[in-house]
Amino acid sequence: MLALSKADVRRLAPMRVAIELMKTAFAELSAGRTTSPLRTVIPVPDHHGDALFMPAFVPAANALGLKVVSVFKDNPARGLPSIHALVSLVDSETGQPLAIMDGTYLTALRTGAVSGAATDLLARPDSRTLVTIGSGAQGVTQSAAVCAVRPIERIVAVDINEAALDRLRETITREWPDLLDRLETSTDASVVAEADVICTATTSRTPVFDAALVRPGTHINAVGAYTPEMQELPAEIVARATVVLDAIDAALAEAGDLIIPLEQGLVSRMQFDRELGMVASGAAPGRTSADEITLFKSVGNAVQDVVVGRYVYDMAVAEGAGVSLDLG
Ligand SMILES: NC(=O)c1ccc[n+]([C@@H]2O[C@H](COP(=O)([O-])OP(=O)(O)OC[C@H]3O[C@@H](n4cnc5c(N)ncnc54)[C@H](O)[C@@H]3O)[C@@H](O)[C@H]2O)c1
Repeated sequence: MLALSKADVRRLAPMRVAIELMKTAFAELSAGRTTSPLRTVIPVPDHHGDALFMPAFVPAANALGLKVVSVFKDNPARGLPSIHALVSLVDSETGQPLAIMDGTYLTALRTGAVSGAATDLLARPDSRTLVTIGSGAQGVTQSAAVCAVRPIERIVAVDINEAALDRLRETITREWPDLLDRLETSTDASVVAEADVICTATTSRTPVFDAALVRPGTHINAVGAYTPEMQELPAEIVARATVVLDAIDAALAEAGDLIIPLEQGLVSRMQFDRELGMVASGAAPGRTSADEITLFKSVGNAVQDVVVGRYVYDMAVAEGAGVSLDLG
């Protein structure tokens, strides 16, 4: 069995590759050829945390495994990321353990990559200004992914916390130096009025920008709100947009961004009938006009983790990378 570090995952799965893997993973999911039950969430209320257990099997990618990801809300105050994760893979022919690997960076990579895939399929080709709201681990890879698929000249990273903006600048300087010359930071989300692409990656429970400011033709990726009580999108924008989901059932069960406006009668269930995998495979249309507002909402799916994990494992075997573990 192989143990693979964050550095291995980073080196072996570049963002552009991960974006294409996400198109395949979600096309397989939407075609009904994957198994990925709703994740099991175990609350740890004493420490304001949740542990999520996320298994999946994607036969077309030979990818079978599990991610354990924890979200502990007090961590930023301790100088720690909110999210830590571990991915484990088993052989789909024999069930033998194949690998354990860092899932923390892998999560940020695949969450960015699926927004990259959505941006590639839905955003206007001439998109030049990106506004990313929420500057934690996911905000960084949202920016990297959008820049991988569109000619972005200006990235405005927004956060209510100045320290988060400083940390984002440090991470981009260290890990994504190609983005640095385009990066601005701000605490004012009204800059969405200048955006061609908006990403939201916050832990907010209330909408993080004003819907009235969003220009026609904007594409939005929303990856934050992953419980029915969390909301980062204004209901008006959900009502106005052409909505594409990562997985309809999971998004309607988990995403406050959809559930809250549905409960308030502000949107119709009929609006939520399109998945990214349908657009990726050509089974459903993407953007149909330059003025349309498109919205991709993801809650995350284990197919993403096992497909990227399997790719990293195969590359590691080919290169002889990683540390071999003998569990006897
Ligand atoms: N869709 C997916 O697949 C997926 C995957 C991983 C994480 N997530 C979710 O994405 C969110 C962000 O994750 P992270 O790891 O970057 O968390 P993080 O805690 O590192 O960063 C979140 C940032 O959002 C900022 N923020 C909160 N409210 C805000 C507001 N109103 N306006 C602007 N900024 C605000 C915080 O200050 C913080 O810097 C979380 O809710 C997480 O659960 C989704």
